[in-house]
Amino acid sequence: MSFESNMDRLLVLDLVRVTEAAAVSAAKLVGRGDEKAADAAAVDAMRAALNKMDIQGRVVIGEGERDEAPMLFIGEEVGTGEGPRVDIALDPLEGTTIAAKAMQNSLAVIAISEEDHLLNAPDVYMDKIAIGPGYAEGLVDLDKTPTENIKAMAVAKGCSVSDILVCVLDRPRHAKIISEIRECGARVKLIGDGDVAGVIDTTNPETSVDIYMGSGGAPEGVLAAAALRCIGGQMQGRLTFRNDDERGRAHKWGIEDLNRKYSTSEMASGDVIFAATGVTDGYLLRGVHQTPDGTGYSTESVVMRSKTGTVRWVKGEHHRNRND
Ligand code: FBP
Repeated sequence: MSFESNMDRLLVLDLVRVTEAAAVSAAKLVGRGDEKAADAAAVDAMRAALNKMDIQGRVVIGEGERDEAPMLFIGEEVGTGEGPRVDIALDPLEGTTIAAKAMQNSLAVIAISEEDHLLNAPDVYMDKIAIGPGYAEGLVDLDKTPTENIKAMAVAKGCSVSDILVCVLDRPRHAKIISEIRECGARVKLIGDGDVAGVIDTTNPETSVDIYMGSGGAPEGVLAAAALRCIGGQMQGRLTFRNDDERGRAHKWGIEDLNRKYSTSEMASGDVIFAATGVTDGYLLRGVHQTPDGTGYSTESVVMRSKTGTVRWVKGEHHRNRND
């Protein structure tokens, strides 16, 4: 199954416009210590840009359920209503805290796929493991210990365990994983927030990150899987539940096997397009900056397609008073 008449080729640039719009709006609130305001600005701009796209879009990973999110809620229809039916996973501001504190790696992110090809993940945690491209399928596995995964990676890479760098979200819940990684001789890169970028870092040798491990948001897991479908690499995810309310939400989205381990393509299948624009500077992307003459903003984005594996880096200059 694939998009009719290569429609996905045409959607690529439109998607960059969508993440650019969200990033520029959020950037105005970077460093102001107000996570909600920065997120709201990104949501508003992303929704407006999405509604200009010739798609019949349905948000499957969004800002929350209808009663808790006024805009870009799960199930919301977006687009002009013309064009292909697509499912959309989005995070207008991935790393709200980072943006509020003007720290590194916050992004505006979106992924689209054909209808019914993105996992309808509820907003619960997901255990994740990811590595970059070029390794045998199943080299690392959520059901193995961190030590086993690190040793397998070192053998496959032809390096010693002490060369392996594992990216983990800096959270008390990860204390055990972090000490096991260090005890087996590997190194840990702790990130404060933003595990979509953390997972994508495994695909970029410049970051030196070999493996991503630990739990983070399930919606971010689906977005990261969409990116890996395009850029290469492998990821596994398993939803984790803290209470019956969370289990109930999973049932509501049609998830029956609560223990299921999802592969990359079980989270994002079909023809996928992934786009992101930097809000603050990071390894993946430069953030939004004022142009030297002060008349506008520069942006840096990446957009990728699973069908061809093409990865495009897009630099934009946006004039403050000349937008349509
Ligand atoms: P937000 O943009 O929603 O703040 O998410 C940031 C983030 O760090 C994600 O990248 C990650 O998946 C999730 O939060 C981890 O959740 P928690 O902060 O509860 O550990």
